[in-house]
Order: sequence, then C-alpha cells, then structure tokens
Amino acid sequence: MNTFSRITGTGSYLPEKILSNKDLESMVDTSDQWIRERTGIVKRHIAADGQTTCDLAQQAAQLAIEAAGKTPREIDLIVVATTTPDKVFPSTACLLQQRLNANGCAAFDVQAVCTGFIYALSVADKFVSTGAAHCALVVGAETFSRVVDWTDRSTCVLFGDGAGAVVLEASEVQGILSSHLHADGAYENLLHVPGGISRGFDLADTEGDPRYTHMKGNEVFKMAVNTLGRIVDETLNANGMKKSDVDWLVPHQANIRIINATARKLNISMEKVVVTVDQHGNTSAASVPLALDTAVRDGRIQRDEVLLLEAFGGGFTWGSVLLRY
Ligand code: ACO
Repeated sequence: MNTFSRITGTGSYLPEKILSNKDLESMVDTSDQWIRERTGIVKRHIAADGQTTCDLAQQAAQLAIEAAGKTPREIDLIVVATTTPDKVFPSTACLLQQRLNANGCAAFDVQAVCTGFIYALSVADKFVSTGAAHCALVVGAETFSRVVDWTDRSTCVLFGDGAGAVVLEASEVQGILSSHLHADGAYENLLHVPGGISRGFDLADTEGDPRYTHMKGNEVFKMAVNTLGRIVDETLNANGMKKSDVDWLVPHQANIRIINATARKLNISMEKVVVTVDQHGNTSAASVPLALDTAVRDGRIQRDEVLLLEAFGGGFTWGSVLLRY
C-alpha cells in the first residue's frame, strides 16, 4: 500500500509587541493610508529584545503537536524554514528539537526566504511518503525585523515577525497531493540582504546598509504576480483539477494586491482566500503556516477540503503545495 502524508495539526504564534501603521508614521515619512492602500497591512508584530526565532518556533510547534494529539517523543523529523536563524550554527531546527525534548531525530533548516515553508513542507512530504519519517514537524519562523532597516520607508512598513507550524504524519489517505518548487538565482539582486558570514558586512560595492533587506519593490511585485499566476496553472494541471476544485487559497501574505491578483487568476472569490496580511505584514517563511493555522482554528477550513498553498520570495524562489486537508 502507498504511504501518503497528511497534516494532522497546526499551530502559530505572534510576538506580543505590536507596531501599527500609526507608529511607523513617527519613524519614517509614510502614512497609514499609503500602507493600507499599497499593501493591505494594518499592523505587524515585533519580537522583544532577546526573543529569538527559536522562541517563536517553539510556541507554534507546541500548539501544532498538541492539535495533532502527539507527544514530542513521537516526532521523527524536524524541518524549520527560516532566513533569520538564532545562530550561525547549530540550525534552528536543532535548537528547537532540544527545547521540545525530541532529541535524536533528524533536524535541519531550509532557507528559501518567503517560500521557505513551501520548500520545507515539500521536503517533509518526501520523507514521510517514502517511509523515511512517520511524524514530521514542519515550521516556518522568522524574526525578520532583525534584517529590516527601520529608517527605510520602502521596506520597513512591509515586514514583521512570527511563526507557524504543522505536524505531517504518514497516512493511508492522501493529504499532500503535489508540490512544485522553483528558483531563479538570476534575480539575486532584486531582493536580498547583501552582507553575510562569508562575504562579511563591510562591503564597498553596496549602496545602503549591507546588514538589511534591499528590495526593488516594483519589479518584485510584477514578477510575483506573473509567477504565482503560472504556478496556479502548473499545480492544477499536474493534478488534472479545475480551478473550481480548490476550496481555499492559502497564499503567502506579502501584499493584498498580489493576493488579489492570484485569486483573480484562480477565479476564486475573496471569501475563499485566507488573508491575514493585515494582521502581521510579511513574516516571510512564517506567513503561509500562520494563515493556515488561523483559518483552521477559526473553523473556516474543514477536513477533506482542497487547499492551494503558494509563495514567492527572495532568490527568487517560488512554489506551491496542493493538499487535501
Ligand atoms: N510610504 C509612503 N510612500 C512610499 C513608501 C511608504 N512606506 N514607500 C515608497 N513610497 C513612495 C515611493 O517613493 C514612490 O514615490 P514617487 O512616486 O514619488 O517616486 C511611490 O511611493 C510609489 O512607489 P512604488 O515602489 O512604485 O510603489 P508600489 O505601488 O510598487 O508599492 C510595494 C511598493 C508595496 C513595496 C510593492 O512594490 C510590493 O509589495 N512589492 C512586492 C514586495 C513583495 O511581495 N515581496 C515578496 C517577497 S519578500 C521576501 O521574500 C523577503
């Protein structure tokens, strides 16, 4: 008999501190109206001093494990998607494993910026559906505020911190139907943090501060809309499904205008699109599992419904997962 993988629990966490659009008005030359109209964002959550990505991941992970009715000892794979790890090493997945008391199983990080959770879920699905793991914990967690220049109005209004997690278990019922991953490194410079451990942070060739996110917002926007439109077709074609077969679109929460464009492409009404970007801005790898958990817990997403998860981010990277919840 084939083994499949299926999500059996979800969880999410947002740090306590809230930074509203009004707060940003006193930090940079912007307005609540501009941010709402151009992005749909109303507020974002910011990790407290000393609060790390692993701290956020732990909260989300515990909720997901509890929802799945599991104990940490039953987890046999941990994959964490993050761009903002606590340490250079060990991986945030290893730090999380220790916190959860799930020592001994495989644990590693995946780095695909905003597409990180889609990549991580796809990787975990391969482990579970081949029998290499039976109960995987998949987390997207970021303290993205640490790589944001809070004096740059073109980026600082967009991002926030948070974490989301799922438990993915072996199942006779097919949960994950397919996943589709892509990257094009030629777009490196449209969205990046120029500095790093190997290149250093004292870079003569960089305009602005190399420690922080640099983005050509307009060009990223156009690429995101076109690419996400194409991945909708790719995903449905691979499964011989029609647009009307999708019950819920769970998109990366970067900008409401990008989400609207993908919903139009899918011909799906906005009532069937999970939108949380207003509540937390772009939390990078955390955004898809945050949205998923929100709609599972408030009862919108029901068992057996078909969900299309998609994301686009730095790299460029992009991808989708189609699943029966
Ligand atoms: N407040 C007020 N005005 C602003 C602000 C601000 N915060 N930021 C920019 N502006 C100004 C610009 O200076 C420009 O002024 P000008 O016309 O006088 O030159 C004007 O607003 C329009 O700027 P644009 O950049 O053309 O605005 P746009 O409509 O493209 O919206 C935005 C900008 C929101 C950044 C949009 O391009 C966007 O969302 N891009 C995609 C970002 C994204 O999705 N990233 C995903 C991946 S993120 C990851 O992987 C980490």
